[in-house]
Amino acid sequence: MITLLLFLSCSPEPFSSCDPSTQVLQDEFPFPVGVAANPLALETNPPYQEIINTQFNSITPENIFKPVYLQPEEGRFDWTEADKLVDYCEVNGKRLHAHTLIWYQQLPYWMENFQGSPEAWEQMMKSHIQTVVRHFKGKVTSWDVVNEAFEDDGSLRENIWLQHIGESYIEKAFRFAHEADSTVLLFYNDYSIAGKRKKRNAILAFLNEIRAKGVRVDGIGMQMHIGYNYPGNAAISKAITNIWENDFLLHLSELDISINPGGRDMPEPDSARLARQAEKYAFVFNTYQEVPADFQHGITIWGVSDAQSWIPSFFGRDDYPLLFNEDFLPKPAFCNLLIQ
Ligand code: G3I
Repeated sequence: MITLLLFLSCSPEPFSSCDPSTQVLQDEFPFPVGVAANPLALETNPPYQEIINTQFNSITPENIFKPVYLQPEEGRFDWTEADKLVDYCEVNGKRLHAHTLIWYQQLPYWMENFQGSPEAWEQMMKSHIQTVVRHFKGKVTSWDVVNEAFEDDGSLRENIWLQHIGESYIEKAFRFAHEADSTVLLFYNDYSIAGKRKKRNAILAFLNEIRAKGVRVDGIGMQMHIGYNYPGNAAISKAITNIWENDFLLHLSELDISINPGGRDMPEPDSARLARQAEKYAFVFNTYQEVPADFQHGITIWGVSDAQSWIPSFFGRDDYPLLFNEDFLPKPAFCNLLIQ
């Protein structure tokens, strides 16, 4: 017992500190390393901007490309905030991965309450997709066309699109996007793809089936909102391999790693869990590095600092899932990635 206590208390600090002003994450990996970003924070928060300027070479809009922001009233599109992010990416040489066209959340009130026949719903969906895709043509590399259409058991999620258009809404969404821009890469994006085998199999079967009908689907976004202890590394490796072996580009599209999935009181981050988090981030990056280059769309971290993560407010718990702490200082997970 005494030996164990000594071992625990004397175990060396496993991660050296690091200096993000001289050490750069995007330079460490041969694939795009991205971050979810918001134009308001980019404009108003210097440390946030500095980290994005230096560390990342790909951007996903965390919110402002979603329908509630782009088409707040039927037929009235508001590009103001979204275009700021486009400009930022152009000026700073960042790739822009756009998110998201068809989802069941963050819809404007009018869209959620739209009245009409299945044909009218289809026309409304088409008009949103094509107006938006055309607006950003040539400015974004890729789109999450459909987001989170499956339940964990592999069934299709009962959302307004399924209810009003039927199962064909997914293939139609991809067809409409491709009609509007035949060069942009088109992704299906979802969570729990690593942890829930049934869900992954259902998604792959469905996408393979629509591809066989001639629908263009270039890739799959595995969101990767995961925990320091779940899913296991073997499940993550298997899911990653499974996707590219099915001939889909793979984007680890929304990576964050919770250190408090159980929701215990954790007013300060637990250092042992920060170490486990660092190991998990390194595992994910190292495993992704083994994906053949032609299938690597990149890894995107879902936010810059713990203070801005969606997790604490969404789940109502303390958590510290990102690479920088609330003071924008690098965490062990960040430093550890630099020495992989
Ligand atoms: O825009 C309003 C603002 O007007 C209002 O003052 C403020 C007050 O709460 O809320 C603002 O809206 C918030 C919005 O983010 C923009 O900040 C919503 O309340 C909040 O619910 C919303 O959360 C976003 C969430 O999607 C919506 O479900 C998160 O920031 C965003 O990280 C999260 O991202 C999703 C991906 O798109 C898809 N995969 C899951 C991921 C995590 O939920």
